[in-house]
Amino acid sequence: MVLSTLLGALALSLLASAAPLEKGVQPHNFRASTPAARSDATTDANPAPFCFPSLGFIPSSALPSDNTNWWCDPATEYAFLGFSYEVTACQSKAQLQKEFSDIRYHFDSRYVRLYGACDRDGFYDDIVEAAWDNQLGVHALVWFGFDGSDIWKTRRDTLFGALHANPKAKFVTRVVQFGSEPLFDDVLPHAQLAQQVTLAKQNLSSLHIPVTVSELAYGYQERGGAQDVLNAIDSINIHMLPFFAQTASTSDKAWPLVENDLNWFIKHGNGKKMYFDENGWPSVTSEGVQPNSPDAVADIPNEQGYYELLDQHCTDLKAVVGGGIGWFAHIYSDDQEPGYGIYNSDGVLKFPFSPRTSC
Ligand SMILES: *[C@@H]1O[C@H](CO)[C@@H](O)[C@H](O)[C@H]1NC(C)=O
Repeated sequence: MVLSTLLGALALSLLASAAPLEKGVQPHNFRASTPAARSDATTDANPAPFCFPSLGFIPSSALPSDNTNWWCDPATEYAFLGFSYEVTACQSKAQLQKEFSDIRYHFDSRYVRLYGACDRDGFYDDIVEAAWDNQLGVHALVWFGFDGSDIWKTRRDTLFGALHANPKAKFVTRVVQFGSEPLFDDVLPHAQLAQQVTLAKQNLSSLHIPVTVSELAYGYQERGGAQDVLNAIDSINIHMLPFFAQTASTSDKAWPLVENDLNWFIKHGNGKKMYFDENGWPSVTSEGVQPNSPDAVADIPNEQGYYELLDQHCTDLKAVVGGGIGWFAHIYSDDQEPGYGIYNSDGVLKFPFSPRTSC
């Protein structure tokens, strides 16, 4: 990528000028086989609906003795999986229960992907309880934030502590992500990030919880590909945000942009399972959401149109190596990131949303 150095410097200077920005609006100033790695917890996975968190899963009253044969095989999980859900508001238990129920039963989600951070004592236990009660798997997150501090280390230790201490945690925590966009934000040299992933995998190995990094294609590309990180992670959790591409226009024309980033991961990802975990199109621009193309259109029809595009390409995404792309809608509510919500700030759906969960 010829422009990467220039754009990287531009992105960093813009990031620097925007920092500190602890709330979850992240500027995105950028241009735009071997068998899948699987955790040993899933090698003998049961088929749906006997695996968690398949649609129609029949819960048992007691916790199983361990989480081997518990999860659905990632190679069978594709299409719409659920929502990104920002937790910076430190939602109450009651709100988590209500919204996780909505996420599961209104939208047929299987997972919720956490975004942002809540540093309240016991918050992850509330997440575990709400996820368990509503049959959702969780993509947990070690959040770096955008302030350049070391608080992510405390968050990592707190999360790992909760994963070991809460007996239900390993039955709902599908993966731990390092994020958001640690390569793009340059919070750690990529070799150190790869080492953190390896250490986390060791820490969580007795719980059979895999580890990933939540990141843009451009984040890897501007760090020389960061193949060490790609090699270390168990699954590839991709930020697919084509609105920020330099050639973005309307979302109905975004498929080549999606393919472009996806093909990069297919080429360098060694067949690992891939998710679009931060994935969407904004309905409005804001301070942290500014396009890099003069033709990029942010409005509700284009936000809706992006998800329709993914539905139209359901079979293409299903055919991708690793068992197909499973995708999350970024994000549950406009309260969590302006313009990206499926719900607006009054709790009203901005457009009909019932994406395909299979094809
Ligand atoms: C995992 O990490 C936590 C938090 O840093 C630590 O307290 C715990 O001892 C670690 N456990 C293992 C098995 O490494």
